Amino acid sequence: MSEISLYIGLLSLVLHLPVAVHGVDHYSRTDFPADFVFGSGTSAYQYEGAASEDGRSPSIWDTFAHSGHTNGANGDIACDGYHKYKDDIQLMVETNLEAFRISISWSRLIPNGRGPINQKGLHYYNNLIDELISCGIQPHVTLNHIDLPQALEDEYGGWLSRKILKDFTAYADVCFREFGDRVLYWTTVNEANIFAVGGYDQGIIAPGRCSDRTRCSWGNSSNETYIAGHNILLAHAAVVRLYRAKYQAIQKGYVGFNIYTMWFEPYTNATEDLIATQRANDFFIGWLIDPLIFGDYPETVKKNAQTRIPTFTKLESEQIKGSVDFIGVNHYTTAFVKDNPSILEADNGGFSADLAAQIIEQQGDTPQDQYPVLPSGLYGVLEYLKQVYGNQPVYIHENGQMTRRNGTLNDTPRVEYFQAYIGSLLDALRNGSNVKGYFAWTFLDGLELLDGYGTSFGFYYVDLDDKDLRRYQKLSARWYASFLKGKTRSNSITEVGKGTSVPLRYQFIQ
Ligand SMILES: *[C@@H]1O[C@H](CO)[C@@H](O)[C@H](O)[C@H]1NC(C)=O
Ligand SMILES: *[C@@H]1O[C@H](CO)[C@@H](O)[C@H](O)[C@H]1NC(C)=O
Ligand SMILES: *[C@@H]1O[C@H](CO)[C@@H](O)[C@H](O)[C@H]1NC(C)=O
Ligand SMILES: *[C@@H]1O[C@H](CO)[C@@H](O)[C@H](O)[C@H]1NC(C)=O
Ligand SMILES: *[C@@H]1O[C@H](CO)[C@@H](O)[C@H](O)[C@H]1NC(C)=O
Repeated sequence: MSEISLYIGLLSLVLHLPVAVHGVDHYSRTDFPADFVFGSGTSAYQYEGAASEDGRSPSIWDTFAHSGHTNGANGDIACDGYHKYKDDIQLMVETNLEAFRISISWSRLIPNGRGPINQKGLHYYNNLIDELISCGIQPHVTLNHIDLPQALEDEYGGWLSRKILKDFTAYADVCFREFGDRVLYWTTVNEANIFAVGGYDQGIIAPGRCSDRTRCSWGNSSNETYIAGHNILLAHAAVVRLYRAKYQAIQKGYVGFNIYTMWFEPYTNATEDLIATQRANDFFIGWLIDPLIFGDYPETVKKNAQTRIPTFTKLESEQIKGSVDFIGVNHYTTAFVKDNPSILEADNGGFSADLAAQIIEQQGDTPQDQYPVLPSGLYGVLEYLKQVYGNQPVYIHENGQMTRRNGTLNDTPRVEYFQAYIGSLLDALRNGSNVKGYFAWTFLDGLELLDGYGTSFGFYYVDLDDKDLRRYQKLSARWYASFLKGKTRSNSITEVGKGTSVPLRYQFIQ
């Protein structure tokens, strides 16, 4: 999804740092376990288009994009994947992808959020999944990628209401029943932390709620971010309970949860900055992952959010604890953390104020529309998850380099980025990380979360001026294809067993 790190109000200052490249330089696919999967991905609204075709109804992302956000762009047409998926899957075959990550548009499958299934939507996803499998590409499916049906937002405020639990579970039930015979790897919610922060604290992504009335027509940053996050966790746990009770024994699949991560480094070695760095991990990772592993929010988050963060009942805590088969991680970049206690006192403060720190993205000499190549950040995140959460299985669901859209097809910055980050992934794996797969973001230049069609991440350029939306292969696609060459796409199943070591809290930064 991507360049979400431009947190309004949290950030940002550009520092000139030497670019540190870590990671193994020379490696090949065979250095990774045979059942490790390499793929790429997309999400429904960023790829499908056909926004009002064949019975699909709007999601909150449609509404948000059509109200002038997303850099003035929208996903009405996007890559027109709804019609072009077969050709795209041929390109995936040429790229030697072993797996592909998609999301299901809830409002295409069940247009009003609940009630009857849209047969044409069902048909589309069945065809898409079948086509991937017949080409030897393993489908990994996300149930919600920022695109809640607008009907549910209008009816009861979407994720702000507990009513979402019942509707999300019923939707998941349809997906497991209809697709679970072929789909083994499910993720309930994509970048749940950033969805809640961007959507309810900063108002920069759908549903565009925040306290600042110069930017948002509705919302209350002080409590809504935490309430949305809370309901997402409860809904996730309800879906996992359903899967475990009704499907897992037969379908033998796995259900995970996805968050956005940055690697954080202290701005200075002053004690305040070291503590603030741990706090940043507590807010960005611990806030939603601690409950899934330990059954409750981190102490720092509870302390700073006070009564504005809901509490779990004993039963809820028990239900949430252990409700993941894997953790899905999106990772793009590294930031410094500088203690900033004064913002904690801010009126109407929410998540960003409670963090009590400034997040300063590291940019170095890298052009503004690219990420600096700091692969030790990916290593750091994987080590952190390993050490703090008892080495749960992890999938890197997104990682990739941003460039201007419609630039050159000779995208060497993207090749350099992948080369370095995949090397770092191998380092982490060799030091015991339980990482099971890696999905490069993204396959085609699609609609980007904040920047619309301004920047892009794809292996393929999509020419929006061409009525056929022709796809053009970039250098990075050839690089990835040659890295993955020779691996037989066997449809081998990756066992996602539990982590073995005992979870130790906060061992990493001391
Ligand atoms: C937002 O909610 C807080 C409580 O969390 C309350 O104190 C504040 O008055 C609310 N602000 C608005 C604008 O409703
Ligand atoms: C946030 O707090 C305000 C003020 O107490 C309250 O009116 C509002 O209902 C709360 N928001 C939610 C989603 O519960
Ligand atoms: C903090 O200390 C470490 C270890 O001595 C050093 O490598 C690092 O450069 C220091 N960081 C800063 C920002 O001074
Ligand atoms: C893409 O580049 C071509 C050639 O430079 C230009 O004519 C076209 O307007 C650009 N399209 C977009 C969407 O920027
Ligand atoms: C490698 O893993 C061990 C065991 O978790 C850990 O103690 C060590 O710090 C890790 N090494 C590096 C370089 O991260």
